[in-house]
Amino acid sequence: MTATGDAPRLALVDVSKAFGSTRALDGVSLDVHAGEVHVVAGENGAGKSTLIRVIAGALGDFSGELRLDGRAVRFASPAAAVAQGIATIHQELSLVPALSIADNFALAEPGHPFSLRARRASRERAARALHRLALALEPDVVVERLSVAERQLVEIARALAAPVRVLVMDEPTSALAEPDSVRLMTLVERLKQDGIGIVYISHRLDEIFRLADRVSVLRDGRRVFTRAARELTRDELVSAMVGRAASSAKVAQKAPFGAVRLRARSLTAAPPQALGPLAFELRAGETLGVAGVEGSGASTLLHALFGDARGVHAELELDGAAYAPDGARTAFARGVALLASDRRDSVLSALSVLHNATLSSLRAWSPAGLLRDGDERRAVAPESTRIKLKSPSLDAPAGALSGGNQQKTALLRCLLARPRLLLLDDPTRGIDVAARADVHDLLREVARGGTSILFRSTDLGELMALSDRVLVLARGRYVATIAPSELDEARLLSLMMGGTA
Ligand SMILES: Nc1ncnc2c1ncn2[C@@H]1O[C@H](COP(=O)(O)OP(=O)(O)OP(=O)(O)O)[C@@H](O)[C@H]1O
Ligand SMILES: [Mg+2]
Repeated sequence: MTATGDAPRLALVDVSKAFGSTRALDGVSLDVHAGEVHVVAGENGAGKSTLIRVIAGALGDFSGELRLDGRAVRFASPAAAVAQGIATIHQELSLVPALSIADNFALAEPGHPFSLRARRASRERAARALHRLALALEPDVVVERLSVAERQLVEIARALAAPVRVLVMDEPTSALAEPDSVRLMTLVERLKQDGIGIVYISHRLDEIFRLADRVSVLRDGRRVFTRAARELTRDELVSAMVGRAASSAKVAQKAPFGAVRLRARSLTAAPPQALGPLAFELRAGETLGVAGVEGSGASTLLHALFGDARGVHAELELDGAAYAPDGARTAFARGVALLASDRRDSVLSALSVLHNATLSSLRAWSPAGLLRDGDERRAVAPESTRIKLKSPSLDAPAGALSGGNQQKTALLRCLLARPRLLLLDDPTRGIDVAARADVHDLLREVARGGTSILFRSTDLGELMALSDRVLVLARGRYVATIAPSELDEARLLSLMMGGTA
């Protein structure tokens, strides 16, 4: 086959891939042209990341064909795809936390990346790439010191350090708060103008409609349609994803709050994640949303209350008794559960979905130290159905689930612990729009049952939908506490950027 001028930059022709009995991709064809953004949408488990892994050379044994500029290609490895100008940002971050940014750049290089000369070169390359994305980070900084959002941006900078013909991004903004995701979208628009063909996956509708030239929807591994974005409505998109008409979420009645559950005074955290001093109260059944951009201290606050943040001082009371958490064990013993923003901190991929879900509540199932498998199953099954957890079975290893379904597993684990205080760092990260409404219903129900919820979200709509009050932080400092009825997204955003109430 010969390359032609008007051939798509990249085409997939009749691609299928099965994992055991799961048909992750079933005869999918789609293409992306130079200078085009092609969004791939679909529910959790629809096959989006599998498609990305086919393009990236990360899956050898698929059927069908891949064409680059009209020529059939078959990548033997991810490195082979990179060498052909295919840059991929995977859903799960891949930087090595113990290495510096520059050494992570070096890792992506062929040859002898850690020779003195190569290291100097990769340090310079890293500095240039960071600069290009306007990231104020030193190449020598060790990655584990970076926030999740910073890691995501560094990962993108690294992918763009080499010449790129096709850029493939799997939920690149799922960990990013508004200003950072806007920065990323601006970058995508610029790369598109440079003639790069972009395949982009996202669960965020705003983003899809801002960026997409064309949208393809996958459902159960099949392509439902490919449409020009400007001829597509939101309802049509969501209906195609879920396979039925989109229903709007019902808003549940709020119960009155109970007694003060958590009292925090003089809460501070030392730099680099400086926070405070903060003082606030949270009542039983109340949901407090914490709004803040990267570096605002919102995540640090959650970890301070769980007891696994460094340099924290605080006077805390839980249900009227002094509370001095120092990590998972003491927090769980007092009925405090945390969902961390990086799900690899909470999901053990080799363990079954069932055991992941019940890990934090083992004592409840086995008072005598014996696991009661039947009881576990009876408790997990209805809740997993409710939030549309898609897994071959509860016994499948969690590592075989799609990203959004791993997130649901982590969430189940927190909920099954029946906490008094639930700390959630970006609870619906990577969860599709349909399941998100179910998760919201579930959290409202948990709150009605008397659980206090303190959560952070990178999604402003979610903050306003779930919170009884929103606490706004900027650069570690208190800005305001506001009822959602008095907020709109523009005002919230300006407060988060450090504006005045
Ligand atoms: N390594 C694997 N082993 C077994 N099954 C897998 C594996 N990877 C993916 N699957 C299955 O393939 C299907 C598609 O998964 P994929 O990760 O492509 O979904 P996705 O559309 O990216 O979902 P999400 O929005 O949750 O990220 C799922 O049913 C998933 O459980
Ligand atoms: Mg995925």
